[in-house]
Amino acid sequence: MEVIEAKSAGFCFGVARAVKMAWELAGTAQRPRMLGSVIHNEHVTGALAEQGMTALSHPDEAQAGDSVLLRAHGVGRAVYDTLSGRGAAIVDATCPRVAHVQQLVKEAQDEGRQPVMIGDPNHPEVQGVGGWCSSLVVFSGPDEIAEWAESIAAAGETALTVVSQTTLRREVWESSLKILKKQCTNLKIFDTICDATHTRQSEAALLAARVDAMVVVGDPQSANTKHLTEICRLHCSRVFQIESADELPWAELSGCRVVGLTAGASTPASIIKEVKKTMSEEKIQ
Ligand code: F3S
Repeated sequence: MEVIEAKSAGFCFGVARAVKMAWELAGTAQRPRMLGSVIHNEHVTGALAEQGMTALSHPDEAQAGDSVLLRAHGVGRAVYDTLSGRGAAIVDATCPRVAHVQQLVKEAQDEGRQPVMIGDPNHPEVQGVGGWCSSLVVFSGPDEIAEWAESIAAAGETALTVVSQTTLRREVWESSLKILKKQCTNLKIFDTICDATHTRQSEAALLAARVDAMVVVGDPQSANTKHLTEICRLHCSRVFQIESADELPWAELSGCRVVGLTAGASTPASIIKEVKKTMSEEKIQ
């Protein structure tokens, strides 16, 4: 089986930075903690736990003397205040690109505009951004925007500042903007889709279109891995999302000559390497 790996597969800049900071903290701090999982990857968080870095599920659990790492997805303003108030030191691994989105919604509110985010309202990044203004409106896509515009009498004249979740699919962003531009006259638009995401998504689409099957490696909790899988499915009929080499679907890959391989932004290089090695070595009929 020939395996073609996407050049952009694996850690993006923000995740690589957060994981590096996590390892440094685990090796130096007396009481290293992380708020939630530093990234959506159990292999990484499990290895950090072995080094003594325990996870807090809420900032109220922090104690004086803790050094608390904030994840790449970022958190709301109030979390910083709670941690400081409890005497914990903050190690901020928020991706600078996410921090930029947080500042944009804050500025929008300061200017008297309504901040709007296109993305998944349940995703931690979106919830964190929501904590930088008093009322972030989140739309998951064009249908919700159309419904909103119909239900609010003054929607057309409302001053909106629009940002995107950094890992949003570009098609969703573009179709959302189309509706917004039709419905609203006072818009400030900031395309905050991360170029790391965009590169990974376009490369996956091109690769999926020219292989017999695609394997996407990533944690089931990872939004960007899920998006990669969806994109690949638009271009290839056999797409498999797996977490590690143990989950390779050998029966379904049977008969495939060329298989593409990509991975989400939070998938460690060691796991991608293992999957590639296992696939390349397997003699499939
Ligand atoms: Fe940051 Fe982009 Fe990664 S926003 S966390 S570099 S996908």
